Amino acid sequence: MAAAQIRARKQDPERDPLVMITAYDAPHARIVEAAGVDIILVGDSVGTTLLGYDTTTEVTIEEIIHHTRAVRRGAPNTHIAADLPFGTYEASSELAVESAVRLIRDGGADSVKLEGGKRVAERIEAITSAGIPVIGHIGLLPQTAASGGGMKVRGRTLEEARAIIADAKAVSEAGASACVLELVPTELARRITSMLPIPTIGIGAGPHCDGQVLVINDVLGMDLGFSPKFLKRYTELQTVILDAIQRYAADVRSRAYPTLDHGFALPGSVDEALDKEGATEA
Ligand code: KIV
Repeated sequence: MAAAQIRARKQDPERDPLVMITAYDAPHARIVEAAGVDIILVGDSVGTTLLGYDTTTEVTIEEIIHHTRAVRRGAPNTHIAADLPFGTYEASSELAVESAVRLIRDGGADSVKLEGGKRVAERIEAITSAGIPVIGHIGLLPQTAASGGGMKVRGRTLEEARAIIADAKAVSEAGASACVLELVPTELARRITSMLPIPTIGIGAGPHCDGQVLVINDVLGMDLGFSPKFLKRYTELQTVILDAIQRYAADVRSRAYPTLDHGFALPGSVDEALDKEGATEA
């Protein structure tokens, strides 16, 4: 799906909600593409889900490019949006365009996503003017959450709600193709969705958005200790994987695996020749 089609979804009265999910490697991207998802996000959540970082701010552009290339190999026919990591777009529009070009040219992404509203509107304008589609991201902004109240719902006060509405308009007017709304109250997301001419894609923003996004590790239940209210887990792979690895370890220790059936036969003639050479002796 091209960025223009993502944008055009808003005008389609029969539209299905857009489905977006993160992926960070080729095998998962292959499965996501087979499932018919509309947009794959190579999010900077790769830092906390796969790379063992405490926050997404540690993720580098080289890491996003590395993972985007892998996802592109796994999903050649799906729209891939890649996150501009912290520090790669804030300082100037030149830096923002340069970073966006790297995600498209070196990573193989179709569009880039960046966090912020009014604050980054100029950057969005610069990137879209360079011919690169942008997906905005407002509400909770994980890259700067620590300095702005932590990982909690945004927009519950009138002042915050007004600011998020202003951010949504700024992102849309700057030329974004769609806008992620993260952790905002359902009614605020509904208002923004009916106000904007571009699709909203919610995460923890209720059912009224034009699309939904979730982190693949959360959908698959890879960390059962992470249970935010908005999340619906579709399986519990952490339990499945733990059980499989424990059974493997037990089989190896008890010599139940491998059996002779898992091995490869040595031709008798080679065996006999080795015997004659005394190849069993130390
Ligand atoms: O990095 C990410 O996965 C994201 C989603 C949570 C929208 O930005």
